[in-house]
Amino acid sequence: MTQDEMKRAAAEAAIEYVDGGIIGVGTGSTVNHFIDALARIKGRIEGAVSSSEASTERMKAHGIPVYDLNSTGGLALYVDGADESNKYLQLIKGGGGALTREKIVAGASERFVCIADESKLVDVLGEFPLPVEVIPMARSYVARELVKLGGTPVWREDFVTDNGNLILDVQGLRIMEPAKLEQRINAIPGVVTVGIFALRPADLLILGTPNGPRTIEP
Ligand code: 5RP
Repeated sequence: MTQDEMKRAAAEAAIEYVDGGIIGVGTGSTVNHFIDALARIKGRIEGAVSSSEASTERMKAHGIPVYDLNSTGGLALYVDGADESNKYLQLIKGGGGALTREKIVAGASERFVCIADESKLVDVLGEFPLPVEVIPMARSYVARELVKLGGTPVWREDFVTDNGNLILDVQGLRIMEPAKLEQRINAIPGVVTVGIFALRPADLLILGTPNGPRTIEP
């Protein structure tokens, strides 16, 4: 089974948790499979709140109505992928650069179902370079502060987020206390969001494996 097939299997399994209303929808190749599956049952939902322009475009192409979070209030369900998850369902996200909107929609949702292939489950977060969204004028300053925390930030050149900001990918971190580091990096002036999702972890992780989807709760 390929990695993409495992992503699709996890995405399709998440459909089971869709129970009408307006669904929060994340970003990435795994979520793209979820959007395609959601399209097949679109008559059962009112629509979606999207975490990126890319997901919005894909949902609109499928005829799924997309709403502004300001007009929907809180959501019952958010479905999104991850770059890494530990067994507590604390995540690294932002490989696709949509981390800020993802964190907002996750925060506004009662239940966060994370979908991924099995390679994303790790013992310690940090092998995947940690994305940090920064205000453009703060790029070098934030990079120097991240070096003080023991990381090696690399500017994701030729990439601008949906919010008009930049991404630093921080290599070389072994994140032993994810919630603490999330707060610490978020407190650096110029940081919009760090891609650690520990203060609001996922509630359920569905992993695609060669033996079928495996569900993990913290
Ligand atoms: C985007 C994300 C994605 O969820 C993460 O990068 C996983 O992507 P994929 O499903 O393509 O492996 O956080 O900002």
